Amino acid sequence: MSIATSAGEGAATSSNNLALIASHSHISGLGLDDHLQPREASQGMVGQLQARKALGIVVKMIEQGKIAGRAILIAGPPSTGKTALAMGLSQNLGKDVPFTAITASEIFSKEMSKTESLTQVFRKSIGIRIKEETEVIEGEVVEIQIDRSLTGGHKQGKITIRTTDMETIYELGNKMIDELSKEKIIAGDVISIDKANGKITKLGRSYTRARDYDAMGADTKFVSCPEGELQVRKEVLHTVSLHEIDVINSRQQGFLALFSGDTGEIRSEVRDQINLKVGEWKEEGKAEIIPGVLFIDEVHMLDIECFSFINRLLEDEFSPIVIMATNRGISKTRGTNYKSPHGLPLDLLDRTIIIKTDKYNEDEISKILKIRCDEEEVEINNDALQLLTKIGVETSLRYASNLISVSNLVSKKRRSEIIEIDDIKRSYLLFLDSSRSVSYLQENESNYIDDEGKVKFNEEVDVEMK
Ligand SMILES: Nc1ncnc2c1ncn2[C@@H]1O[C@H](COP(=O)(O)OP(=O)(O)OP(=O)(O)O)[C@@H](O)[C@H]1O
Ligand SMILES: [Mg+2]
Repeated sequence: MSIATSAGEGAATSSNNLALIASHSHISGLGLDDHLQPREASQGMVGQLQARKALGIVVKMIEQGKIAGRAILIAGPPSTGKTALAMGLSQNLGKDVPFTAITASEIFSKEMSKTESLTQVFRKSIGIRIKEETEVIEGEVVEIQIDRSLTGGHKQGKITIRTTDMETIYELGNKMIDELSKEKIIAGDVISIDKANGKITKLGRSYTRARDYDAMGADTKFVSCPEGELQVRKEVLHTVSLHEIDVINSRQQGFLALFSGDTGEIRSEVRDQINLKVGEWKEEGKAEIIPGVLFIDEVHMLDIECFSFINRLLEDEFSPIVIMATNRGISKTRGTNYKSPHGLPLDLLDRTIIIKTDKYNEDEISKILKIRCDEEEVEINNDALQLLTKIGVETSLRYASNLISVSNLVSKKRRSEIIEIDDIKRSYLLFLDSSRSVSYLQENESNYIDDEGKVKFNEEVDVEMK
């Protein structure tokens, strides 16, 4: 069986994690130095040194390909940077290492079984680097001649390409002509044409044209005209995920499904065959497996069936590193009646190494809030930042950070470009944090609809909602 690994030009990978990333847009890495020691504040990351150091080691192990099939749990109280740490880690990974981020509840919201969704995200997180030999035409363009028909629709033409030893004329069709004009190829350029897909790459300007330098601009790269044959075999490397190979080769879906994300369930026979083939390629040295990272946020939302399936997937031949995050303490595992640490069943917990995150101190909260202000491009004065920090310490980092954009609007309303202490006060009064909301509810409990559907509008009238 032949297995396709490329969907042609520009096969898209899904990017449905925008919302997850926006509140972490200030983070551009784990902020480690060359010895994997965390810097106090770097790449948008502040404090949480232990956890960052631990994740730095994880990154190192991923680089060395040592840690496939392991599970890591980041556990800690709400808004202590668990999701932020995972986003930082993803940016420290090499560019070919796949990283997939999901929130546990997504597993239940797809139009497919839980096990299928889990299998897909696992396979999205495994990269296959494939070595392929392709035939390319490489040479200097001598002349391009394009004839346009009067009606404009059909184009045809000729291109003359040479090396130092030979010169050939090739016929051009519509697609190649478009490709040439897209890459702005002109006579004197040294180009490479991939014979398999017609893709044209401009390698530079030929030295023989160096005297036209004045007209070219300073950033022009000069290369020498290739020698020898025009057609040469070249080794190219490309990386796809196992899931992409699945989709491209599953007959019902076809590669277009990669663009819509609507991949449906993939038959297990297809996957078996692909695993077999990839295994063979690996043996023959044609492919290299790159275990990536699957990040499952809010992992306590998974149920017992998902957890046991993850146990199984972790033992698979191809398995990524699974990083999970939760803010739960001892709590019930969904789908069971028993409690366990972090809501994870003990057999999975046993396979997991745990990284904990701690609450931030005042200084760290202040620094993070300042970074968020810069990120949201708002100006804040010192007093206001101090008050905001105090609010952050007493309520939560996330609440304080949400007040930034609100206070910005409040300050704009009084035509000020800078947030002052009164703006923070006003937005603090306008929007409740969770603890004030709880105490308000406790005081006014009878005005709300209760579990029995009863509500009291004033002391005398009892209303029953049915
Ligand atoms: N160490 C840090 N450095 C910089 N920014 C941080 C840090 N920790 C948290 N933040 C920012 O604070 C906010 C809250 O953090 P985050 O969402 O990562 O918390 P969490 O631990 O995932 O919380 P939850 O348990 O509620 O999911 C985010 O905007 C995050 O980017
Ligand atoms: Mg989180």
